Amino acid sequence: MISAHKLDFQSTPCVSFAGFPLLRPLWLFEILFLFGMDVAFNEENEDPVTKSHDPFATRSSADLRLVARHPEVYGPSDDSFVLVDALLAEKAHLRELHPRLCVEVGCGSGYVITSLALMLGNGKENIKYIASDISEAALKATAITLKAHGLCAELYKVDLISGLEKRLAGAVDVLIFNPPCVPTLDEEVGTSAWAGGNKGRVVIDRMLKTVDSILSKKGRFYLVTVTANNPGEICQIMRRKGFSSRIVIQRHSEEESLHVLKFWREKLDHSSGSDKSLLYSRCASALHVSLSHRLSRLVSFK
Ligand SMILES: C[S@@+](CC[C@H](N)C(=O)[O-])C[C@H]1O[C@@H](n2cnc3c(N)ncnc32)[C@H](O)[C@@H]1O
Repeated sequence: MISAHKLDFQSTPCVSFAGFPLLRPLWLFEILFLFGMDVAFNEENEDPVTKSHDPFATRSSADLRLVARHPEVYGPSDDSFVLVDALLAEKAHLRELHPRLCVEVGCGSGYVITSLALMLGNGKENIKYIASDISEAALKATAITLKAHGLCAELYKVDLISGLEKRLAGAVDVLIFNPPCVPTLDEEVGTSAWAGGNKGRVVIDRMLKTVDSILSKKGRFYLVTVTANNPGEICQIMRRKGFSSRIVIQRHSEEESLHVLKFWREKLDHSSGSDKSLLYSRCASALHVSLSHRLSRLVSFK
């Protein structure tokens, strides 16, 4: 078993920029040059959402200009945005959960976990964040992205959550995963950030096996899938493990249809009664829409 090794990219303690305004220019300098990454940075620093000129003002998703970029790291893409949009749609509900521990598996650039931390209280709440990735460059990027937003997390270079099982057992309140889910040959899994093997399910199916043991009683699991992954079948697998599910967001593009699935423990969730009743009907109707969309494209192709 791989022992989880915590990576420490922070040479300074994890502090909020708000408490150390004089350090801001230094940290921005570090973002731009230390990691040799090109962070697109607008001199004006106007937040497109809040229209504030302070990039560290309260906001609900990470500032793309402060997200670390690197050729080896999966940058914010359509699937990252759909996951953040799903979390934003769930924001009130997630806050009501009063999560203590949030985990992102496969954190990439850090865009998603940073956004989650911002929407759950801008790092001011007493919430612990843990992120894992198999890529050291990704973890380094995540550290920089978090730090640029005045946030921090424990970062682990591990396969999924290997070595962290005991630590996370029954404790994870919010679990997020935008997996490598593009169908490829099984041999290609691990060679890129997106190669998902047969039906794009190789990494997803391994992750599904761990969810039951690490999710807390009130825990929520958010998973990005594409149609080829057969999200309906994923819902059934999780159903057999005692989880309810629903599609939070479904988004079509020319190339793929993205879904963000949400899972929670069936019997213990009294607040989501409506979610329960919608379980299969929503999955089924969303998949119907997806199929109709594809059929209409076929027809127009004819
Ligand atoms: C599609 S990218 C998503 C990145 C980021 N979460 C986002 O949404 O922008 C998948 C990420 O999972 C990581 N990954 C792939 N296989 C993994 C594994 N077995 N364990 C941990 N991370 C993995 C990749 O290195 C990559 O950063």
